[in-house]
Amino acid sequence: MPILAEILGTGRAVPERILTNQDLERMVETSDEWITERTGIKERRIGDENTTASSLATEAAKKAMEMAGVKAGDLDLILVATVTPDMPFPSASCVVQKNLQAWKAAAMDLAAGCTGFIYGLSVADGFIKSGQARTILLVGVEILTKITDWTDRATCVLFGDGAGAVILQASNNGNGLLGTYLGADGRYGELLFMPGGGSLQPASQQSLDQRLHFLKMEGNAVFKIAVQTMGDSCLKILDRVQMKPEQIDLLIPHQANLRIIQATAKRLKLPMSKVYVNIDRYGNTSSASIPMALDEVRRSEMYRPGMNVLLVAFGAGLTWGSAIVKI
Ligand SMILES: CC(C)(COP(=O)(O)OP(=O)(O)OC[C@H]1O[C@@H](n2cnc3c(N)ncnc32)[C@H](O)[C@@H]1OP(=O)(O)O)[C@@H](O)C(=O)NCCC(=O)NCCS
Repeated sequence: MPILAEILGTGRAVPERILTNQDLERMVETSDEWITERTGIKERRIGDENTTASSLATEAAKKAMEMAGVKAGDLDLILVATVTPDMPFPSASCVVQKNLQAWKAAAMDLAAGCTGFIYGLSVADGFIKSGQARTILLVGVEILTKITDWTDRATCVLFGDGAGAVILQASNNGNGLLGTYLGADGRYGELLFMPGGGSLQPASQQSLDQRLHFLKMEGNAVFKIAVQTMGDSCLKILDRVQMKPEQIDLLIPHQANLRIIQATAKRLKLPMSKVYVNIDRYGNTSSASIPMALDEVRRSEMYRPGMNVLLVAFGAGLTWGSAIVKI
């Protein structure tokens, strides 16, 4: 059997506070009916002033390590996929390394928007297959509610906070990542971005007055590209690993919009019973959505060892990607 990156353990963490569509009705001009029909979201989790990317990431990581039976000292690499780290630097992964006391581990963040977890899987796969690492912690975490413009009804109803973690380890029992596919097109960067706070528009009174430190999105344009790239990415990875859609036991798509998820399932001719959906409870948690869903599956009765799971995402960049993993 060839060496594969096997997912040995999963974990997730979300803030306790729930923000419902009814709560949002009192904040902006919107309705539960509009949000439910257009997105499938009913509620989302929202952190408080103590919630940071590293705090949720650490909590999720500890649960994944416990399931995997892995100690902090076993970790060779910590990858954190996020666009909302605690601060621009040091990286969230270095803070997680400190929290876990994983002193042997190298640490780096990955910024690929909502596709961050898939990019992370692909990087982890490369490290494991090249022999540079044996045991890797990969976390997708996002505290998007802290860069949400709560006066913009077109975006503030969509996002939530959360973290999902996996432990990947080199193994040769047939389980693990069968392949990944990644894509990007920087020409679409300004369809979904946070313009302020970097070297182009550093923080200033003017950048604050212009509300540049909030997420901005052309929702309708992103929607159309998402429908196309999610379907394309699934077909690409199926082709790459020589599998057919009917060999997939479960599709775990990035949870951005129920209509995008349904369109992806339709393109693959997969029944919705084979598609994992939890957007109603969490909203769009960006790079955390897939590992959070993976953890829910692993800890539920639907989990069967060796099931073939297709993961697919798209996000800011724009980026997109997919993976097939035997979990
Ligand atoms: C954001 C999104 C839900 C909007 O749905 P849509 O069907 O595209 O809706 P539109 O943006 O065309 O807006 C339709 C109308 O609803 C209104 N609207 C927007 N947000 C609203 C809200 N929260 N409540 C009520 N009405 C709202 C708009 O103002 C517009 O009104 P108009 O027709 O009078 O101009 C959808 O475009 C989407 O999900 N896009 C993808 C976003 C995404 O996934 N981003 C993350 C990438 S990882």
